[in-house]
Amino acid sequence: MKHIILLAGIIVAVTQVQAQTAANLAELSKEAKTVIQPFASNLQATLKKGMQESGPEGAILVCNTDAPELAEQASENGWTVGRTSLKTRNSDNRPDQWELETLLEFEQRKAAGEDPMSIAKAQIIEGEFRFMKAIPTAEACTACHGTSISEPVQAKLSTLYPEDQATGFSAGDLRGAFTLRKVLE
Ligand code: HEC
Repeated sequence: MKHIILLAGIIVAVTQVQAQTAANLAELSKEAKTVIQPFASNLQATLKKGMQESGPEGAILVCNTDAPELAEQASENGWTVGRTSLKTRNSDNRPDQWELETLLEFEQRKAAGEDPMSIAKAQIIEGEFRFMKAIPTAEACTACHGTSISEPVQAKLSTLYPEDQATGFSAGDLRGAFTLRKVLE
């Protein structure tokens, strides 16, 4: 009888922890999305301005200097914010093991019909909350990430990013993902 009570107690405790973790994940995911939002719109605004002022060639320089800076700015209140991809342009953005697995999972989920705009994943690993949200490719992205990149743009990309892998994308493909982490107390 004692054993049964003990067992029941353990089951209740485990269920409570699971419920708490699920609530935590939901809360942290919500917070992560509010961290991504201004970062994403700042990137978009910066890119748009660069394209309007100096076309794709000039905008490459803006991306080159401003994208890492904006990621740094977004990394506050314990969050580390960045972007990653299965095919990176800047090698600083290469995925770690968890990011790699998540990017592959995102490709499978997209292939299975999930809307790329809402593909995301949250997980707690070794005391750290990790979150990724898919970034789809839009038509405007193909000037610098597409299949037929103009000669001057390609030349500039090759100079700045000799290890560039981030070409050959079409509108609708997954370009990569936002990736966030936060150490939990
Ligand atoms: C004017 C050229 C240009 C355009 C247009 C452009 N990008 Fe990029 N993109 C870059 C450059 C340059 C980098 C590398 C930035 C860096 O050094 O961190 C980059 C990096 C990225 C990264 C980070 C991962 C990596 O490959 O290093 C993602 C994700 C990304 N771009 C998505 C997009 C999306 C989505 C669009 C369309 C909305 C877009 N880009 C349009 C030039 C461009």
